[in-house]
Amino acid sequence: MLITLPLGYTTKEYAEIEFSGAVWMTVVWVAYAIVFFTTVVQRKTRHIYVGNWFFGAFIVVIAMLHVVNHLSIPVGWFKSYPVYSGATDAMVQWWYGHNAVGFFLTTGFLGMMYYFVPKQVGRPVYSYRLSIVHFWALITLYIWAGPHHLHYTALPDWAQSLGMAMSLILLAPSWGGMINGMMTLSGAWHKLRTDPILRFLVLSLAFYGMSTFEGPMMAIKTVNALSHYTDWTIGHVHAGALGWVAMITFGSLYHMIPKVFGREQMYSLGLINTHFWLATIGTVLYIASMWVNGITQGLMWRAINDDGTLTYSFVETLVASHPGFIVRFVGGVFFLSGMLLMAYNTWRTVRIADLKIAESEARIA
Ligand code: HEM
Ligand code: HEM
Repeated sequence: MLITLPLGYTTKEYAEIEFSGAVWMTVVWVAYAIVFFTTVVQRKTRHIYVGNWFFGAFIVVIAMLHVVNHLSIPVGWFKSYPVYSGATDAMVQWWYGHNAVGFFLTTGFLGMMYYFVPKQVGRPVYSYRLSIVHFWALITLYIWAGPHHLHYTALPDWAQSLGMAMSLILLAPSWGGMINGMMTLSGAWHKLRTDPILRFLVLSLAFYGMSTFEGPMMAIKTVNALSHYTDWTIGHVHAGALGWVAMITFGSLYHMIPKVFGREQMYSLGLINTHFWLATIGTVLYIASMWVNGITQGLMWRAINDDGTLTYSFVETLVASHPGFIVRFVGGVFFLSGMLLMAYNTWRTVRIADLKIAESEARIA
């Protein structure tokens, strides 16, 4: 991938790898599935915790999407043509694209949420029943929402409207999951004052709630007429990618690292707290600047003079977007600095763990 993509061997958005690479990816993914499911089969308890259901769905659905969207006729090692054509190809592509978001960037991370939030709070998940309803509702509804990426295209109108309706319905299971995670803290909200790891986990849920509210709104055709092609989409992407996916990962890693290296806790809670604020400010700067840019671009592109000509040229919209790009850059620098602190904190945690082992070995000797 690192070699073929820069050489220009590429296919469709988010499914860029040519046929031969895609087959190889399938082999890797199947190996992953075998490791996961055989581990589940060998479990000691009868029950399968809900976090594993989410992980299982993530593995199975990603495999399905990958295989169906990559069905193509190879004409060489690095060239192939999809078996679908025209609007059908676009539909399959966005069925894949949207569910990559739903199952790659959401379902696996929800699995993490169901494990790490209760662990870090020290309480069971708020409602086990809700988590089961959440699971089945999410996986049955997500799969229909892809056409919201193809509003006002050659895709039949009914399919676009169906995609819009299913996207609006998708708000319910998404918020069900968010509420379940948040409510796990009930009676333990005070822990947020002293525990920056929990803060990461809870804020990630808040961003999850925010991006899954924004998504259905953007799926409404009249809203999409303004937001499509603009930086609003990019802001939405990163509300999910930075606010939800990255933050839940940070919280989970901070929970896990000391355990893996036999330490009671991370080297510095203060540094985790600083990381938390850098990541939060960085994400907010990113999203807010893209909202402003997106709406500015959308309004400028559709402005017309009395004689029906466009009021603004494309370059003028680009110039108007420039300040937003600078703010996004600053946001990115904040976010990255937080990650560097995390790397330092991890290194110190691991080093101290090593030193302790070395010390006790020396004492025994
Ligand atoms: C209920 C949940 C959600 C709905 C209904 C939804 C809906 C939408 C809509 C309408 C668009 C704009 C399509 C366009 O105009 O081209 C979009 C784009 C996008 N969304 Fe969401 N969204 C949801 C949640 C999320 C989450 C949680 C993430 C990330 C973790 C995410 C990642 C993306 C990405 C990456 C794109 C850009 C796709 C592209 O390259 O065009 N979405 N989403
Ligand atoms: C400091 C962190 C990050 C910065 C500064 C950043 C910046 C960017 C920029 C400048 C773009 C291109 C936007 C455009 O086409 O106008 C982009 C696209 C994208 N980024 Fe990020 N990114 C960051 C982290 C992430 C993470 C952690 C993820 C995933 C978990 C992610 C997922 C994406 C996706 C899916 C797109 C394509 C969106 C689309 O074309 O609709 N980004 N990012």
